[in-house]
Amino acid sequence: MSAPASSTLPNNGRAEATALAAERRWALVVGIIIGLLVLMMIVTGVHWAAMPPSRVETIDVKTLHLAGEFVESNLGTAVDSDGKVTVRLVAQQYSFEPQCIVVPAGMPVTFRATSTDAIHGFVVGTTNANTMVVPGFVATFTTTFHERGEHLMPCHEYCGTGHEAMWARVRVVPAEDFLAKGRNGERQSCVPR
Ligand code: CUA
Repeated sequence: MSAPASSTLPNNGRAEATALAAERRWALVVGIIIGLLVLMMIVTGVHWAAMPPSRVETIDVKTLHLAGEFVESNLGTAVDSDGKVTVRLVAQQYSFEPQCIVVPAGMPVTFRATSTDAIHGFVVGTTNANTMVVPGFVATFTTTFHERGEHLMPCHEYCGTGHEAMWARVRVVPAEDFLAKGRNGERQSCVPR
């Protein structure tokens, strides 16, 4: 009885050590994978300012053109009393309102957008300003445009036969020019009048 025990115990010990080493290696690999994923989340969230495009904020599609935030006279870019810059726009088949959006360079700009009909979306040039626009919801995100210039803003969700013709422009202007015009809370756009 004692002979088999003395001959198997060292083997068991070796097997256990091997298993433990494999377990440790695996734990290290998993640890590295988790670390990389967390790092990816931090880099995209903090450095790229990427975020889920839509907060869960609802709006009644049937009345949004009659009253409230998205009436025509309230669309465009506004400087709120606390100095925050907000762009309000409506997407509909097959245009954006306003067609030309003016924003200050180097300042955080919050976009608030909704749709009256189908699912639309937009991306501003090659910037990280990119969202879906879903009827019944307010899509919102905040971004900063660092360089002056003009960007195309196409609809990037297929929304019907006129989809490819649906786009607007975003004009990034020097902040001092923008603020000089928008001080009294009036809505700004670069739509030719
Ligand atoms: Cu709107 Cu595609």
